[in-house]
Amino acid sequence: MDIRNDGLYFGDVSAEDLIKEFESPLYVYEEDTIRARARELKNAITYDNKEIKFACKANTNIEIMKVLKEEGMGIDAVSPGEIFAALKAGFEKDHILFTTNNVLWDEIEYAVSNDIMANLDSLSQLKMFGREFPGRDICIRINPNVGAGHHNHVITGGPDSKFGINYTRVDDIKEITRKSGLRIKGIHQHIGSGILDPEIFIKAMGVLLDTAKNFEGLSFIDFGGGIGVPYQENEERMDIRVLGKRIADEFENFCGRYGRELKLVIEPGRYLVAESGFLLGTVASVKEGEKHRFIGINTGFNHLVRPAMYGSYHQILHAGKPYGARESQVIAGNLCESGDTFTRDEEGIVDRDLPHFKEGDIVCICNAGAYGYSMASYYNSRPRPAEVLVKGSRARLIRRRETFEDIFKSSLGIM
Ligand code: LLP
Repeated sequence: MDIRNDGLYFGDVSAEDLIKEFESPLYVYEEDTIRARARELKNAITYDNKEIKFACKANTNIEIMKVLKEEGMGIDAVSPGEIFAALKAGFEKDHILFTTNNVLWDEIEYAVSNDIMANLDSLSQLKMFGREFPGRDICIRINPNVGAGHHNHVITGGPDSKFGINYTRVDDIKEITRKSGLRIKGIHQHIGSGILDPEIFIKAMGVLLDTAKNFEGLSFIDFGGGIGVPYQENEERMDIRVLGKRIADEFENFCGRYGRELKLVIEPGRYLVAESGFLLGTVASVKEGEKHRFIGINTGFNHLVRPAMYGSYHQILHAGKPYGARESQVIAGNLCESGDTFTRDEEGIVDRDLPHFKEGDIVCICNAGAYGYSMASYYNSRPRPAEVLVKGSRARLIRRRETFEDIFKSSLGIM
């Protein structure tokens, strides 16, 4: 995104022109940013036999998934819906991993019937899987007892986490797989999301590698995702080349000890798409309240839930007058809850210095490409926005704006 005096540009297209053509609110993605992040990451990991699997829970727009496929990525899917999207986007089955958590048998069967490897995360599921599908290739998810992340909700390793089989349970895993003939081809972990400290990633990696040496037949080790991106204007970016080299070196050393070269897998979501995406909304009303100047826009936590759910900070720009004189304002959504503000932390609303907004102005919420649309809902019965992918001077509709019929089609006509 380019901030020019007369407004914001995505590729060569202005925010104003996008709203004129596709209406408001609108999700906009820049293709070049997605490709740049994918290439950066590929180059940073200086180990050849590797696969980057896009954790598509971050964004399941099929056209965006296709871009990542073109960049050589595979897919980490956590539901049959995500497997469906991956297959529609053209990913090959052996580049999709189904990472399960508390899934009923129908979901496992969906994956197996589509020839997609299951990544099992409890001893009970491992036993059931072994009974139904003896002799199959599987991956197992380990909890390395190390966790990290930008918020408690997204820390997925450690004693409070519901994910994975504790790394101390190697004997149980071996016993179950020996009896059923299951073949452990992969070993996996994902410790959390939004990690900006390479050391914690490397520490967890050490635990997984230590665990991996107990399994002779591996072909890959998957260290999960979690690589953070800066959300605050002055936040430091993690040096991805430093992390990539550390990961590669640790892995190469391990393969030496293991006696065989294995495939290195990581599965980032946020890193690949967060910074490519923006949510544009339009100022509907301005209210000079007792304590705050409320800028009310035509979208809310139904379309981007991260501020309301985690108190997450998202940079906000005036899409028409980015350098205008600033004043203290609160950007509020249009839902019927006080928590529906985009300038907030976990405790509540926070005023932010932003260029003066008036009715009709376009507000741009940045870093919305990951966990934006994919976490959107129909709350207050508002349809979800359209999504547009920009490359150069071309803006392409990649998901149409939904209608009331889309919201209600599953209940109309069944009574
Ligand atoms: N692999 C597994 C098994 C995961 O559960 C996740 C994310 C990832 C990979 C990708 O993590 P990433 O690279 O995107 O950090 N809704 C939250 C994030 C939840 C992440 C859940 N798991 C947010 O908006 O911050």
